[in-house]
Amino acid sequence: MANETNKVAIVTGASRGIGAAVAERLAADGFTVVINYSGDAKSAEALARKIEGKGGRALTAKADVSDVRAVRGMFDAAEAAFGGVDVLVNNAGIMGLAKLADSDDALFDQQVAVNLKGTFNTLREAAKRLRFGGRIINCSTSVVGTKLETYGVYAATKAAVEMLTAILSKELRGRSITVNAVAPGPTATDLFLVGKSPELIDRFAKMNPLERLGTPEDIASAVAFLVGPDGGWINGQVLRANGGMV
Ligand SMILES: NC(=O)c1ccc[n+]([C@@H]2O[C@H](COP(=O)([O-])OP(=O)(O)OC[C@H]3O[C@@H](n4cnc5c(N)ncnc54)[C@H](OP(=O)(O)O)[C@@H]3O)[C@@H](O)[C@H]2O)c1
Repeated sequence: MANETNKVAIVTGASRGIGAAVAERLAADGFTVVINYSGDAKSAEALARKIEGKGGRALTAKADVSDVRAVRGMFDAAEAAFGGVDVLVNNAGIMGLAKLADSDDALFDQQVAVNLKGTFNTLREAAKRLRFGGRIINCSTSVVGTKLETYGVYAATKAAVEMLTAILSKELRGRSITVNAVAPGPTATDLFLVGKSPELIDRFAKMNPLERLGTPEDIASAVAFLVGPDGGWINGQVLRANGGMV
């Protein structure tokens, strides 16, 4: 479906996991993609070469989303290379789990810095710079609904992201830019799998009636819908992509 041939999409946290699948899918749909990462340059470059090998256009951009100047630099680089930005997929995120009583300051500060401040940093740039008709997708989590123990700080940062989503969708009135969030359920990536026993992973997989984990491609499909022509009337919403874990 190569139908977005002139549009440029920045995907944050795209060196692996959901972000990499989103970048690959949007490139297949015809977007030029900016593959953001903070640490793993090798994986980001490999993804860019893979996309180019299939005839797509891609640029890697190292930027810690919690760093305001680095985020501005990433938008500058995208504009310099491609003339403008149409889509922002705010996917970069980290997760640290602990009961509130056991959560130390670092667990709180790091998640607020990347998940909340990072989203704010990129949204502020996008709000100023996105071209008419653009699309913004933020990344929440279905835990905002399920409210599981030990997810307190993580879910709180994502609840805040959902609030930024709704309010920015109103503030962009008149520019035909939509702002939505995708809220995945348990999805088979490092963030979810690392540190969990096979039994615990199986328990999470059975929490939805389809009885499996989500794949990064499942989430990329939801993002592709929202940034593509069929998603144009969806604005200010949170799409819980979780196989029915309601
Ligand atoms: N997997 C799930 O079950 C699940 C469920 C609900 C929501 N989510 C959300 O989905 C998003 C993607 O998660 P994932 O599961 O794909 O995670 P992942 O496999 O851990 O990948 C995270 C990506 O974010 C990048 N990243 C981390 N910190 C960054 C920073 N400060 N600046 C820029 N990039 C950064 C990482 O790249 P580098 O290491 O190269 O920096 C990596 O590409 C997150 O927002 C997460 O909260 C995931």
